Amino acid sequence: MLNFAIETAKDAGRVLMEKFGRIEAVTKKGDINLVTEADLASEALIIDRIKSHFPRHSILAEEAGNAVIIGDEGGHKWIIDPLDGTTNFAHGYPCFCVTIALEHKGEIVLGVTYDPARDELFAAERGRGATLNGKPMRVSATDALGDALIVTGFPYDIKRRDDFARHLTQMLLSCRGVRRDGSAAIDMAYVACGRFDGFWEEGLNPWDMAAGILLIEEAGGRVSNYDGSEFDLYHPPVLASNGLIHAEMSSILR
Ligand code: IPD
Ligand code: CA
Ligand code: CA
Repeated sequence: MLNFAIETAKDAGRVLMEKFGRIEAVTKKGDINLVTEADLASEALIIDRIKSHFPRHSILAEEAGNAVIIGDEGGHKWIIDPLDGTTNFAHGYPCFCVTIALEHKGEIVLGVTYDPARDELFAAERGRGATLNGKPMRVSATDALGDALIVTGFPYDIKRRDDFARHLTQMLLSCRGVRRDGSAAIDMAYVACGRFDGFWEEGLNPWDMAAGILLIEEAGGRVSNYDGSEFDLYHPPVLASNGLIHAEMSSILR
C-alpha cells in the first residue's frame, strides 16, 4: 500500500505541475481561503485511484467536502490533501505538495508527502522508519530552542485566534528564526528530515497533518498537543519537534 500511495502522490504531483503558473480559475472558500482547478484535478485523480484499487476503503478528502465514506472495510481510511499550499500555488510560489495518509483502526499507518517542484518524496510506514527520496531520514539533533529554526503557519481564521500573536512573539524571541512557508504538510516533512527543528500551528485539518505526523514520529521526533498531552488528529492544535526542544516549545505555547 505504501507503493500505491507513493505512485498516486507522484501522479497527482504531475497534475499540479502541469497547471502550475497556468491557473485560470481561483475560487474563494472564505475571505483568504482559495481553491483552484488544480486542487480539484489532483483530488479527482487520487479519489479515482483509491476507488479502483480499494473500493471499500473510506476517504476523507479536503475538497470533497469532508468525509466521503465509500466503505469501511477493516477500518481503513485514506486522508488526503490534493494540494497543500494552495495560496502559494495560486501566486506562483513553488512551495506546495500532495499529501496522503492511511488510517487503520484509528492509527495512521502510512504517510506520503510529495513536493513536485523539488521532486522530493517523503514517506513513512509505521514501525518501518521514514525516508526522503528512498534514503532514511532523521529529525535534527538541535537540543536548545535558542539554536533552533522553527516553522509555523497562520490559520485562515487568524482574526479569531487571540493567542497567536503572543505565541509568535515569544517564539521569535526564544529561537534562532521562525519561518512561515504556507504548506503545513511540507513544514512537517521538513521537521522529519531535520531542516526545521520544530513546528506549531492551530486550526489545521486532519488532511494537513496526517502524513506529517507519521513522518515525524518515524524519523524519531515527537508530536503532541501544545501542552505536551497526547495528540489527536481530529482536535488540533499541533506541536511537533525533534523531541529535544519539545518541552521548551511547549512552555511557550501553554
Ligand atoms: C493550508 C496550508 C497552510 C496552513 C493552513 C492550511 P491549503 O492548507 O497548510 O500552511 O497555514 O492552515 O489550511 O489550504 O493550502 O490546503
Ligand atoms: Ca491543506
Ligand atoms: Ca488543500
